[in-house]
Amino acid sequence: MKINTAQWPLFDEFPKLATLLAPVKLADLPTPVQAIPALGGNAWIKRDDLTHRVYGGNKIRKLEFVLTEIRRKHSREVFTLGATGTNAGIAVSMICAQENIPCSIITFPQADSATVRRNQAWMQKFNARFDVQPSLWQAVLRYYLHPARRRKGSYFLFAGCSNPSSTFGYLNAAFELREQIRAGACPEPADIIVPVSSGSTLAGLTLGVALAGLSSRVTGIRVAAEKLGPFAACTPAVVEKMMAQAMTTIRQQHSGRSFGKMPGVIMNGDYFGSGYGDSTAAAQAAIAVFEQATGLPLESTYSGKAAAAFLDRLATQDKPVLFWNTFNSRRFPDDAASFS
Ligand SMILES: Cc1ncc(COP(=O)(O)O)c(C=O)c1O
Repeated sequence: MKINTAQWPLFDEFPKLATLLAPVKLADLPTPVQAIPALGGNAWIKRDDLTHRVYGGNKIRKLEFVLTEIRRKHSREVFTLGATGTNAGIAVSMICAQENIPCSIITFPQADSATVRRNQAWMQKFNARFDVQPSLWQAVLRYYLHPARRRKGSYFLFAGCSNPSSTFGYLNAAFELREQIRAGACPEPADIIVPVSSGSTLAGLTLGVALAGLSSRVTGIRVAAEKLGPFAACTPAVVEKMMAQAMTTIRQQHSGRSFGKMPGVIMNGDYFGSGYGDSTAAAQAAIAVFEQATGLPLESTYSGKAAAAFLDRLATQDKPVLFWNTFNSRRFPDDAASFS
């Protein structure tokens, strides 16, 4: 099999993973890495808002790895979970439409906003079916106890597209960044700032940066609650578990190699505010600064909170800082059929 290492530089380093994971090309990679001169000489942005020509953002990298599983299992329907205005729901329903399989999204309420309403319209364009639940708890129960779990051909994909396969999407992204640094597209960042919710973006980046030999410090800006009732939800331990799962796969495939210590997960909850999806004054201010400096749209659930942390980091040190933009910047299509 010819390995596409331009798309997945991870396989240059770990060729045996290529056959095992066999991702499906969905994303436009590498995404650009750019300076933001209006924010000073140390400000850099990784444009994962451009991962797909119709709907970008961080889910597309994950879905390259998840789609292989969906196909291998001959899945005939995909079920996922998210807030009313879930970004993941858009990406999943878009890929399901492309694969010609139905997509059901179990939703829980979220504060209304223009982004939420636009996201709903995106999902409708991609023929998503909504299974509306009145609370987060009920949505989670519905997800885990869904009657379709007993039907062959049902694929359940956790919120934010996080599962053991999807971590490899962001592991690969770290190797992609290393190639861009080597090619002189940007300096090695002292810091990488990214939002964290379901966890696999931060898990893949943290482990990937370490395996790629970069010395950047990856900080996840927590935008979801640490606990769901008695269960850990958005915590370093949850992310570390995802990293450990990916590392087990790597060790199994490359058993002759020795690896250093697992990196620790850095998570900062200072920008969370009063709850998931609730905006903060700092996020609103950062969104306005980004709009001015880059023309890019951010939103207040994820990227606005991470952008606030990014601006603070830039202000307190004199080293390159990279903002990993996880939020789609493609415009709502006039015609959903135009993507195929
Ligand atoms: C725009 C955006 N940024 C960041 C995240 C968080 O990524 P993850 O769920 O991998 O932690 C999400 C989704 O959950 C998202 O939609």
